[in-house]
Amino acid sequence: MSVLVAYYSRTNITKKLAEEIAAKLNADIEEINPKVNYNGKIGYMRGGKDAISEKIIDLEQTKYDPSNYDVVYLGVPVWAGKSATPMISYIKENEGKFNEVKFFVTAGSTGFEGTFEQMEKFVGKAPQKTLALTTKEVKKDEFADRLESFIE
Ligand SMILES: Cc1cc2nc3c(=O)[nH]c(=O)nc-3n(C[C@H](O)[C@H](O)[C@H](O)COP(=O)(O)O)c2cc1C
Repeated sequence: MSVLVAYYSRTNITKKLAEEIAAKLNADIEEINPKVNYNGKIGYMRGGKDAISEKIIDLEQTKYDPSNYDVVYLGVPVWAGKSATPMISYIKENEGKFNEVKFFVTAGSTGFEGTFEQMEKFVGKAPQKTLALTTKEVKKDEFADRLESFIE
């Protein structure tokens, strides 16, 4: 089974999960890089605003075509109760190209459900599985069992 892990991560929390999943499944990995600067305090404010308005932004060129994979794992942090803007832009850019999908989402504490629903709406299909982890759980490595059942 061919697997692609596509993720966006601003502060490397979601990235840590993406890299573990890709290593365990021997999958290709795509980091989504926005052309918009979301770094620092100003970037944080811009991120919240763009997420709320479901803004579509330009991304750096990606490497892999999702339609070549049986399953695409999509990983993203929650921004203002929704998916971080670059992921929604990636999904939109690849509309109709996803076979099966799984979603993994990190957040300080809240907004997982809204983010899953929004991602499902943009992809146009329900995920096979979802994984929701807090920033703290990822930092403290408190996710091994849940990660195993997510990638099964
Ligand atoms: C613009 C912005 C908005 C955020 N909004 C939320 C939120 O609504 N709820 C929450 O629990 N965490 C929120 N967070 C925190 C991130 O979801 C959390 O720190 C995440 O694990 C960061 O992942 P990353 O390092 O992969 O970017 C927000 C972070 C940013 C930058």
